[in-house]
Amino acid sequence: MTTFTSLKTRLPWIQAPLIANTPMSGVATGELATVVTRAGDLGQIGYLDDMHALSKELDSTTKELKDIISTLPDPDQLPIGLGVNVFGSQIDAWMRLFATYKPAAAWLSFAGTSEMKAWAEGIRKLSPKTDIWVQLGSVQAVMDVAQACHPDALVLQRTGASIVSLIPETANAFQKLEIEISLIAAVEIMDGRATAAALTLGASGAVMGTRFLGAVESHIPQIYRDAIFSASDGGQSTARSRVFDEIWGPNF
Ligand SMILES: Cc1cc2nc3c(=O)[nH]c(=O)nc-3n(C[C@H](O)[C@H](O)[C@H](O)COP(=O)(O)O)c2cc1C
Repeated sequence: MTTFTSLKTRLPWIQAPLIANTPMSGVATGELATVVTRAGDLGQIGYLDDMHALSKELDSTTKELKDIISTLPDPDQLPIGLGVNVFGSQIDAWMRLFATYKPAAAWLSFAGTSEMKAWAEGIRKLSPKTDIWVQLGSVQAVMDVAQACHPDALVLQRTGASIVSLIPETANAFQKLEIEISLIAAVEIMDGRATAAALTLGASGAVMGTRFLGAVESHIPQIYRDAIFSASDGGQSTARSRVFDEIWGPNF
């Protein structure tokens, strides 16, 4: 496990506590990533399967963040994360993207340990300063990926049990490993109280998806945003589904 300080060493523009928007495919574009990074957090661009469109997005984000980039110790670092839905993605095309834009973080989802390893090694070879973040939901998967890929951060999100048990159990398991990895909490975090709780449980930062759908910079239809704002009694009005997991492939 690591502290905020080690995250800040690698992401020098961030302020405590680390907050990031999740790289929601088609929703978290450069526009959202730009405002989140400008706020002292980690803005992330979501997965697109159109490499041309993604390159354009990365070009415009690089221009928008020029002033922040000029303050960084490494002017080649693009101060955003880039989401990759690994399963079914063409590794060569993505590696060219990482080599060209050098995002500060790569958020890898939806793949087994051996695929994650291949992607982590490929990215590190071409863009050594890109932090590898892997999204996972079980202690077993965390231990496997931690030892095989040595990621910089593991994003822990509930699949069965909530992060209330997943983070402490993972943190305990980590004490046996001599590897420095940041634990980041995900799912159902909506405000400062939940972020504080995640930090208390042992996370070094928090990521939010749904919370950022309320931001006008997220690319969703207004009717979708209105439905989120008008929802109440979340425990009852939230339905859990594995539809995205089934669409995208393996999710551990
Ligand atoms: C609209 C939307 C799109 C998403 N797209 C992706 C995606 O492409 N890849 C991914 O790894 N996770 C994706 N996620 C899941 C988030 O990464 C994250 O696990 C989740 O949003 C966290 O829970 P929260 O929404 O309660 O904050 C998406 C989530 C939402 C709400």
